[in-house]
Amino acid sequence: MDATTPKLTFEETTPYDAYVRASTLAQLQHTKTDVPGEYMFLVCSQIMELYFNLLSFEWRHAQDALRDDDLGEALVTLRRSTDHFEALNASWVSFRWMTPADFNAFRDDLGEASGFQSFLYRHLEFLLGFKDAALLRPHKNVAGDHYAQLQEAFAANSLYDDALGYLARHGYEVPAEVLNRDPSLTYESHPDIEDLWVNVYEQTNHGDPVRELAEALTDVSEAFSDWRYRHVMAVRRAMGAKGGSGGSAGLAWLERSLARNAFPELWSARTRI
Ligand code: HEM
Repeated sequence: MDATTPKLTFEETTPYDAYVRASTLAQLQHTKTDVPGEYMFLVCSQIMELYFNLLSFEWRHAQDALRDDDLGEALVTLRRSTDHFEALNASWVSFRWMTPADFNAFRDDLGEASGFQSFLYRHLEFLLGFKDAALLRPHKNVAGDHYAQLQEAFAANSLYDDALGYLARHGYEVPAEVLNRDPSLTYESHPDIEDLWVNVYEQTNHGDPVRELAEALTDVSEAFSDWRYRHVMAVRRAMGAKGGSGGSAGLAWLERSLARNAFPELWSARTRI
């Protein structure tokens, strides 16, 4: 085998850096203190934000595929997004070492900054059908077109709305009030949709494309709840039940969100099957 040395000389920056922008990424860690644990806190938060952005890209692509009646493309994309969650959720292990004393060493220096103000996370919630107009407000002055994108996602169909639209176009009975619902409202469970999923599971076998869609959406819902659960546990370990820097009651606020699953009838239908 030819062991030719890779190219080592470049006129400008390496083509790799021109593409990946590692030199830019490595300049974005502006810590507030010299506490070593803060660097990890900041880098891991940034890694999670990148994953949030990736997930929102994937889910919007899956929505486009569903709208185009391309179920195969939607399925491969949803499954890919669940795989991303494996890596994203695994990054919570980096927080395990942090006792309340370790967190207190830099917590005050973060001021009012809180993940609650993450517009990329809120975008994910909107794509999953969790809509709360008040939660748009904090992002009004965020640089770039992120606020406009968030507003767009708020007003538009969720991933689940588009999955139900697909089913309606393929012979499944989806009530008009579900199909024509105001997409800017949080999706509420409907008994006919629960019936629909019960029928899918009872009348199809593994490998049936619509059953696969049901399972892929269930995986997405579970993976998102896993992130919420790991976050709640990290909060419990690092600060107990103290109030949050974002002004919320902390754990109580987070546990309320954790109790809500995306795509509710995919969960409730299981009791009846
Ligand atoms: C040990 C580390 C962490 C602690 C103690 C913590 C604490 C909290 C608390 C108390 C809240 C409630 C809102 C408030 O601040 O009042 C919150 C919300 C939130 N945090 Fe964290 N957090 C941690 C790490 C992270 C990381 C790494 C991320 C990833 C970017 C993150 C993202 C979020 C998000 C998205 C919310 C809003 C959740 C919702 O609205 O349901 N947090 N966090």
